Amino acid sequence: MANEANGDGAEPQIGDPCTMVIFGAGGDLTKRKLLPALYNLKANNLLPNEFAIVGFSNNPFNSQQFRESQSKDIHEFATTKVDDGTWDWFNERIEYVQCDFGDPAAYKRLAEMIEKVDKQYSTKGNCLFYLAVAPRFFSVAVKQLGDAGLTTEENGRWRRVIIEKPFGHDLESAHALNTEIKKTLDENQIYRIDHYLGKETVQNLMAFRFSNGIFEPIWNSRYIDHIQITAAETVGVEERGGYYDQSGALRDMVPNHVMQLISMVAMEPPYSFDADAVRDEKAKVLHAISPIKPEEVLQNAVRGQYGAGNEDGKSAPAYRTEDQVKRDSSTETYAALKLYVDNWRWARVPFYVRTGKRMKHRLTEIAIQFKRAPFTLFRHTRVENTMPNLLVVHIQPDEGISLGFSAKIPGPIMQLGQVDMNFKYSDYFGAAPSTGYETLILDCMIGDPTLFQRDDMVEAGWRIVNPVLDLWKALPAREFPNYPAGSWGPKEADHLLERDGRQWRFHNEK
Ligand code: BG6
Repeated sequence: MANEANGDGAEPQIGDPCTMVIFGAGGDLTKRKLLPALYNLKANNLLPNEFAIVGFSNNPFNSQQFRESQSKDIHEFATTKVDDGTWDWFNERIEYVQCDFGDPAAYKRLAEMIEKVDKQYSTKGNCLFYLAVAPRFFSVAVKQLGDAGLTTEENGRWRRVIIEKPFGHDLESAHALNTEIKKTLDENQIYRIDHYLGKETVQNLMAFRFSNGIFEPIWNSRYIDHIQITAAETVGVEERGGYYDQSGALRDMVPNHVMQLISMVAMEPPYSFDADAVRDEKAKVLHAISPIKPEEVLQNAVRGQYGAGNEDGKSAPAYRTEDQVKRDSSTETYAALKLYVDNWRWARVPFYVRTGKRMKHRLTEIAIQFKRAPFTLFRHTRVENTMPNLLVVHIQPDEGISLGFSAKIPGPIMQLGQVDMNFKYSDYFGAAPSTGYETLILDCMIGDPTLFQRDDMVEAGWRIVNPVLDLWKALPAREFPNYPAGSWGPKEADHLLERDGRQWRFHNEK
């Protein structure tokens, strides 16, 4: 964000000198996302020369072995061809400390290592601790860091902590975690990550809305009929059955990623791009969403679980037969909600959101359905109906924005057809290989928390979904599995819109 805010022609800001300590460095996130993201930052000259990486996890490596494993992984997971010179630069700067996250002695060894690399690479005492670990270690790690004096900011040095999701598993646990870590850290040292905010198109939403004069005047309940948000995946639970069976689709995607999308689309213009100005506006949206009342959950929230089905012509297994999933699991792999943002701008505009695993297509998008134009003009023509305009923000896989509108079909009679104006990111700006973590890591190094979640925002997200979680837990679904793998979800989700005289996009695709 900081780079974008610099304006046209401004030099991008490079990260501050620092040591990045990766908790859980032996895990999947490090090799799949963090190292490739750091590599891309270096390749774009956005990392400072005064930089070092310290891996911190329980895998039995020494620094040399850790470097070797990272060298192997980067060649497999980099999003671009690895240049030997660039990788050598990293290799010189990678160290490792083996640890048990609860053991104070490990933090002493970590402190010594930080001091060593600080001297060697002049990192100015700045440290970014990235907690890429299971949630049960979040508060333990923060407390131990604090006890070892590693979170103290003094003599101009900064100490920041990035915390991965899930941040809590409901409102109460998220609140407890906030309270716990704030015993050690100031809010401005905490960077709660939501990788959706690293996606270009999500960030572009603000640019689209607030740097173009023509959309904002119609961005309200007077012109917009409803909004549909879809975050659909074709994959199943992969190797994460153990985590997912405890979590479910609602917890996994809605209080975090989907709420970020809603707040980006529904927020008021901030008075500046200053982190808190933006986050205040986003938080206001979340506070304005009324949680579904317990007696309305069954009506306004739909859950689903996939049974055996078909994925690209190949047979796909039922959720209950996936690895580490209970054979009689009542965990949902699909969730759809109808929500309202109760404020002046959005009164009576439904926000329909859906997310699921093993869906028909991989697709994340926000579709803004405008109201129909008055039919008056066409009443003596063959036109039977006018189609409403549809603006779609395509978040992935084909990033872009399209606007659907009516046009006259050529010929002697007046007939209308639906056409599209289509902007594709890759056509204009090329496809820069990225993991989605580059901006977020760089922003943390610069000290710009705009794209990170504040304490009140995470809690507001949980507050919205909590009544649904509670009711679903109290009344386990009896109808599971209720959609085949490779489909658009359960039929009850169609009813959610049909009752209001609306339809999901792609409802015709079986
Ligand atoms: C993660 C969820 O936060 O987001 C995963 O835990 C999900 O279950 C993933 O697959 C989706 O992210 P993306 O970037 O692939 O849309």
